[in-house]
Amino acid sequence: MSKILVLGSGGQIGTELLLSLRQLFGDSNVIASDIKPASPKDLALGPYEELNVLDKNKVNKIIAKYKIEQVYLLAALLSATAEKNPAFAWELNMNSLFYILDLAKEGKIKKVFWPSSIAVFGPTTPRQNTPQFTVMEPNTVYGISKQAGERWCEYYFNKYNVDVRSIRYPGLIGYKSAPGGGTTDYAVHIFYEARKNKRYECFLSENTALPMMYMPDAIRATIELMETPAEKVKIRSSYNLSAMSFTPKQIAEEIQKHIPEFKISYKPDFRQQIADSWPQSIDDERARIDWGWKNQYDLKTMVEDMLKNI
Ligand code: SER
Repeated sequence: MSKILVLGSGGQIGTELLLSLRQLFGDSNVIASDIKPASPKDLALGPYEELNVLDKNKVNKIIAKYKIEQVYLLAALLSATAEKNPAFAWELNMNSLFYILDLAKEGKIKKVFWPSSIAVFGPTTPRQNTPQFTVMEPNTVYGISKQAGERWCEYYFNKYNVDVRSIRYPGLIGYKSAPGGGTTDYAVHIFYEARKNKRYECFLSENTALPMMYMPDAIRATIELMETPAEKVKIRSSYNLSAMSFTPKQIAEEIQKHIPEFKISYKPDFRQQIADSWPQSIDDERARIDWGWKNQYDLKTMVEDMLKNI
């Protein structure tokens, strides 16, 4: 059985991806790792390594220790946090990628997953139904790191035959893990505040449309892409992926159908500018054609399921 390492397993995607990978491939075949010390719960579930991805030697050692064949590299700073610490965001987001791509180039691992984002696009990109191949002039630190990362992924595939696969995630919404430092995080916070306080002050303005996806779809997409035969994975930079698009006003209205007393107010902060530079909706035809991607959740079914579960 091929061993899998999840770097950043305590994060928003990592937490849920780890659960799904362990269910599919067995607890002992999926090694969790994060910069945080393991909680008793982490340890009970299967192998856990406390690890800073910038510690190249330790990354090497863990890959050798468990004979890792596949790496999901999810450790990163997201868009809002990266604006506050550009130099560290660049170091973390880029160097971790180089370490893993180089290990794959040396034949020490066989397959890599690396997440990209809608943040690779910028203010000069067409914002509606943004195509797979289009103008990309990101103007955030995070977006620049993801765009550069995509170029390097494709380069390592072309030059060194590294089997690296990637998705440009939209904003992700789930109830099993908290988001941290992103511009789309409001779409998760809003549920907790709606339940607890029946009100929410949104840091984006009411008509800011952004592409979003429910976490079960995102996790399934990730594993489906990784399980697709290599020859079908035609795009080695990163795939556009889409499920739904909505504004803060629209999600609030959908929540009000279940919690009529819920009220939303708006106080845009620096994240508004980031959101304004991103697409409003995404064309993901290539993922649908190349590896059969299809989303299951839309705004209505996502809101129903979130409120059922939080
Ligand atoms: N959800 C991410 C963010 O807001 C986008 O990749 O930073």
